[in-house]
Amino acid sequence: MAPHFLSLNLASFIIFSLILTSSAADDDLQFEFMDAAAALNQARQVFSPPNTPATTVLPQQQLDGSPSLSLTIHPRSSLPSARPTAANYTALTLSRLARDQSRVHSLLLRHSLSLSRSRSSASEFSPQQFQSPVTSGIRLGSGEYFARIGVGRPSKDFYMVVDTGSDISWLQCQPCSTCYDQADPIFNPSASASYRSLPCASPQCSALEVSACRTDSCLYQVSYGDGSYTVGNFATETVTFGATGSVPNVAIGCGHHNEGLFAGAAGLLGLGGGTLSLNSQIKAASFSYCLVNRDSSSSSTLEFNSARAADAVLAPLLTNPRINTYHFVALTGINVGGRPVNFSPDLLAIGGGGRGGVIIDSGTAVTRLRSEVYNSVRDAFAGMARDLPAASGFSLFDTCYDLSRMTTVRVPTVSLQFAGGKAVALRPSNFLIPVDDGGKYCFAFAGTSGSLSIIGNVQQQGTRVSYDLANKVIGFSPNKC
Ligand SMILES: *[C@@H]1O[C@H](CO)[C@@H](O)[C@H](O)[C@H]1NC(C)=O
Repeated sequence: MAPHFLSLNLASFIIFSLILTSSAADDDLQFEFMDAAAALNQARQVFSPPNTPATTVLPQQQLDGSPSLSLTIHPRSSLPSARPTAANYTALTLSRLARDQSRVHSLLLRHSLSLSRSRSSASEFSPQQFQSPVTSGIRLGSGEYFARIGVGRPSKDFYMVVDTGSDISWLQCQPCSTCYDQADPIFNPSASASYRSLPCASPQCSALEVSACRTDSCLYQVSYGDGSYTVGNFATETVTFGATGSVPNVAIGCGHHNEGLFAGAAGLLGLGGGTLSLNSQIKAASFSYCLVNRDSSSSSTLEFNSARAADAVLAPLLTNPRINTYHFVALTGINVGGRPVNFSPDLLAIGGGGRGGVIIDSGTAVTRLRSEVYNSVRDAFAGMARDLPAASGFSLFDTCYDLSRMTTVRVPTVSLQFAGGKAVALRPSNFLIPVDDGGKYCFAFAGTSGSLSIIGNVQQQGTRVSYDLANKVIGFSPNKC
């Protein structure tokens, strides 16, 4: 490029910037800086030998009145038992994104089923019906973040997937007719003094979407969209939250057939909005988590009933009458470079018959926006990031950059705009992520053809997300891991 063109561009850019910044608020900056080298170093460390056990994090301040309960939570890659088997970071990213597609498929399927089904219909099943083959080589039920929780008496600790997108908590149980490999010994109900099988007439059994009755014992079944499922006894157990307390009589699934679920975790903690979720059962007024970077070896906490940080940006939690499991949030827009991207807020609202809307999910990695919205956001970002060297797409990402020769990178700001006027500013690491170990980064949003949009965990990393269930408010506090 000829020097005078460059200076002309620069001059017009400066004028353009001045016009924009003069009309933008202080917290709506157009650009910010990202340390590309640091993110890349962290990505490369995933393949270094496991570190000493992750640092313990002190629980947040206790809310007056209700006892605060706390668990440590770890990213998948920090656990020795679930360390990546991929050959390199490219392969690791591809497997994560494939799992993520499978996860999103399952969430969308459940959403569309709930729209088409009448609300009161629960179904009976015979356990033999569920010997369906795993149709996908990609394992679901996995998730990227595990909490350490105690089950039984005496209490035994298990790594469980943290899942805000489902309600039923379950773990693999002896005797196993089908169990996958897990890090901890498989839970043995006969060695626990607090294990009680639930009778078929119990309210917990009646609350199951899919249940069966065998010799007056309640059987549960949870299946995911790709043919994977867990089936077993629905029972109550004592659940222990580290040193912070324990709660008796929590209904959990004792899974004797667990097919197609990803190895590593002993089971899953359901933190959805339904009556059978862990938070509902322990009558938690709130819960919060902070997700550390997926490539980090540190840990954070999942807390129940702890005080919300004073600096939290608040947004409404919404109710979708057709599906109470998902946590819907009132996302109304996306700002790129301090400016709202132009699309109708109706595209993100819960529409007629419960269609559409935006959920926040701990188990989805990459934020999915319905395609009209995604295309506008992507175009706005790419338009402002024209100075960055473009690279070819990668898996579900269509907007990528080669930052291998750059250390400090100037990137457009991105923030999520919520009803009520508040916006949550994302950090560059929440929207520009390394996909290989050579310096290729992609814009970490994707489109989806369904009506539902999903705020994923890449966008939540480093932020304490507080679900105030009693007041139907969600809070975001940056840098509170
Ligand atoms: C990463 O690993 C995959 C699978 O083993 C291999 O095909 C690919 O060539 C590797 N890529 C690099 C950049 O080493």
